[in-house]
Amino acid sequence: TSASALPSSDSPALKFKVVATQGRARSSRMTLPHYTAATPMFMPVGTQGSVKGLTTAQLTELDCHVILGNTYHLENRPGSELVAEMGGLHGFINWQRGMLTDSGGFQMVSLLHLAEITERGVTFQSPIDGSAMLLTPEQSIAIQNRLGADIIMALDDVVPTTTNDPARFEEATHRTTRWIDRCISAHSRPTEQNLFAIVQGGLDTRLRQISIQQLMERDLPGYAIGGLAGGESKDDFWRVVAQCTHPQTGLPAGKPRYVMGIGYPLDIVVCSALGADMFDSVYPTRTARFGVALVPEGVLKLKNAAHAKDFRPLDATCDCMVCKNYTRAYLHNVVTRGIASAAILVTYHNIAYTQALTRRMRAAIEEHRFPDWVRDYLRTMFPAGD
Ligand code: GUN
Ligand code: ZN
Repeated sequence: TSASALPSSDSPALKFKVVATQGRARSSRMTLPHYTAATPMFMPVGTQGSVKGLTTAQLTELDCHVILGNTYHLENRPGSELVAEMGGLHGFINWQRGMLTDSGGFQMVSLLHLAEITERGVTFQSPIDGSAMLLTPEQSIAIQNRLGADIIMALDDVVPTTTNDPARFEEATHRTTRWIDRCISAHSRPTEQNLFAIVQGGLDTRLRQISIQQLMERDLPGYAIGGLAGGESKDDFWRVVAQCTHPQTGLPAGKPRYVMGIGYPLDIVVCSALGADMFDSVYPTRTARFGVALVPEGVLKLKNAAHAKDFRPLDATCDCMVCKNYTRAYLHNVVTRGIASAAILVTYHNIAYTQALTRRMRAAIEEHRFPDWVRDYLRTMFPAGD
């Protein structure tokens, strides 16, 4: 492909340039107000602003380009008005690179069992005093405008994929479209912040296609694929992602595609091969706090006594500070004794691992050896071929 034929797009606050493709996979540069990020990209989650266990200096050292914050948590504490006074999320947490905030509805539905979705918005009981509260698309966008992230997400109607109620999926798909129009009208900073729409539709091909088409008509700077990573089978998950990234009938090739809630390294690799560009999940950081390290063979459960006398680094292919300085035996020791630094060290490595993974994919795509790279990756993870 000649460079001029590669997909690209220009929005007021986001330039997306695909620099190489191989099959459906793409390597791109996405210029945001605060940073030019490279994709495929994994974004660590800093629910309350900060990524648990890491400083922003470490996130920079780890080559993170964009990190995530959550509207719902930040509005609760310390509140978006206070964050705005401190220069937005960037000023508040002292981070100069890209930020993305999720809209809040998904977090409320997944965290608060009493959340209920109506046409007006997501209603829930305040975790503080139990009073009834409502998050509308307009309020979610107003909060996200105050937080000031480079990318803000539409409030969407998310139904768990395991729900056995076709009518509910139908309603949620169309409501997500009605809400995107309310989000677009409410968005007060379109030249400084990029509003992404989120495709819904559960596992239903017809509903997903309706959602793709309706959201594409709104011509937004980027699109997310939502409603996944909730207990559906891998076959269903990959089928929906493949539909949304289909070269002819999927989301636009010239715009970023973000699969929400994806963090298993294997899923990041498969979705990148299918043409997705952005991923986020608490998995690498949360699993680290349980003493689980990500490695090319899969995971290392550091609590396991087998590591007590293992003097090797976590991952011989990783050049991170932890792999350079500590043995598995040492990490087993601090993890099993619950020493606070254990969680920090394993978190540091796990983010180094996900960032190296996406860096290696980008290089493989740009050097046109991505299929070989994927084959080697799978052989290392599944040596028996299973
Ligand atoms: N995080 C993981 N999945 C989703 C989703 O479908 N919608 C939103 N807003 N956030 C998510
Ligand atoms: Zn490492």
